[in-house]
Amino acid sequence: MEAVTVAAGEFAGRTAILAGGATLIGRAIAAAFAAAGANVVIADIDAEGGALAVRELGDRALFLPTDVTVDADIDACIAAAAERFGGIDYLVNVTTSYLDNGLETARADWLRALDIAVVGAAIFAQRAAPHLIARKGAIVNFSSISAHRAQAGRFVYPAAKAAVAQLTRSQALEFARHGVRVNAVAPAWTWSNVIGMVSGGDRAKADRAAAPFHMAGRIADAEEVARAVLFLCSDAASFVMGAELPVDGGYLALGPEQRDDAIAALAG
Ligand SMILES: NC(=O)c1ccc[n+]([C@@H]2O[C@H](COP(=O)([O-])OP(=O)(O)OC[C@H]3O[C@@H](n4cnc5c(N)ncnc54)[C@H](O)[C@@H]3O)[C@@H](O)[C@H]2O)c1
Repeated sequence: MEAVTVAAGEFAGRTAILAGGATLIGRAIAAAFAAAGANVVIADIDAEGGALAVRELGDRALFLPTDVTVDADIDACIAAAAERFGGIDYLVNVTTSYLDNGLETARADWLRALDIAVVGAAIFAQRAAPHLIARKGAIVNFSSISAHRAQAGRFVYPAAKAAVAQLTRSQALEFARHGVRVNAVAPAWTWSNVIGMVSGGDRAKADRAAAPFHMAGRIADAEEVARAVLFLCSDAASFVMGAELPVDGGYLALGPEQRDDAIAALAG
């Protein structure tokens, strides 16, 4: 029997590209890869966040300004990453857009958001494929609990995340014969730039707001999502393909009868 945990050293000398890696969640993933001995390439339009990640991680991290809606940027990023680190083992597509005006969303915003979240991930995988195949690597995409539930006023983001979940299954089948595994994580509310901004930087307030619909009674730390990403990239996940792993504190398992009052109403 082989070990069932992430083997010590298995990420040493490997290289991960994190598209959208300059954000708080992306930087937590970068830190987890770097701590495990991997090289990390942050591909993002956010130069400030990218610079911060490189400052946090040192020599093994590289920021490459990359717009995932521009093919030439993706190609340049992949070429520079392969040249600097000698190959590419993992691609993590963190990039998203929160452009969403529900029913009123303009066509241009629909197309822009889908370009960033879905098409960007598809083209990045397409262009990185020869490198990932050469290393028998892995891809992790970012879905969300939003892919599975109606949320007030939101049309574009949930549709984009549902498309990413299906893209993951299609890519998994295509890449499996080349020895590359493709999976997704589906986080629930996670301490992130957006939650930090909306809560005014108040973590306790975010936890309180999320408690009624997360079994965990709180939001996730970015590091908890990062650990799931590393698991999916690791050999411990060797038979996990086309999966969407909830990292959601029980959000998706909950239904309307989560409290005792339903039975109480019936009995009363
Ligand atoms: N924040 C949450 O609670 C939460 C919950 C579930 C899922 N997620 C998913 O986690 C991931 C990260 O979420 P977040 O809240 O940190 O998002 P975010 O908006 O803070 O980060 C997205 C990153 O993508 C980058 N980006 C945007 N457009 C780009 C482009 N054209 N080219 C390259 N990079 C671009 C941004 O600069 C940013 O660094 C997303 O895929 C999101 O759907 C987040």
